[in-house]
Amino acid sequence: MTDALLRPQDIPLWQAARPYLDVRNNDEHTLVAYGLAKSLMALTPEAEADIVLPAILLHDVGWKKIDPDLLLLAIGKNPTRKDLVRDHEVYGVQIARDILTAHGARDMDIPAILAIIDGHDTVKDAHSINDAIVKDADKGWRATAHGMRIIRSWYDWTVSEYIDAIEKVSLPFMLTDAGRAMAQGFVASIKAEQQLDTYMTGGLHA
Ligand SMILES: [Fe+2]
Ligand SMILES: [Fe+2]
Repeated sequence: MTDALLRPQDIPLWQAARPYLDVRNNDEHTLVAYGLAKSLMALTPEAEADIVLPAILLHDVGWKKIDPDLLLLAIGKNPTRKDLVRDHEVYGVQIARDILTAHGARDMDIPAILAIIDGHDTVKDAHSINDAIVKDADKGWRATAHGMRIIRSWYDWTVSEYIDAIEKVSLPFMLTDAGRAMAQGFVASIKAEQQLDTYMTGGLHA
């Protein structure tokens, strides 16, 4: 049987976050990134799950406050509204503070979680290993088959164009060895899949 994705204590946070994540596939992105964060934490014993996992669940709740018509201008290959990326972090901190106060465990380190949400996109380096794992899980998602399917549907990019963008705007900014290996592995699998026909049609001989 497959293990449950969410820890029991994270389910109330997820339920409270959902109304804020129903824009631009942020709900699906959040759940898959949560799974990536769990796998990165398994390789990083010093990371703190009670900070990393609530942070990844709530990191993008602020997009809900941004005009939906402008969302795609804030990201992509040549973003023209990068100011909105900062705005979603600021709104995200406000919303996440309310959610954590209402639904988080009593001993939760809310300031540490909010410090990760604040700057998760606009600050490229990390101020802690917890921050680095959240950032690598968030950006690493773009390299997954799921991230590729979702993001390509917004921009109408070919797989090659997509991989090109990931290699330029995501892979160089991975912060942990585990995150880098994970994202490079996802990209390698997509690139290999692109070449299957070349080797499977019987036309090539050693
Ligand atoms: Fe974000
Ligand atoms: Fe995100």
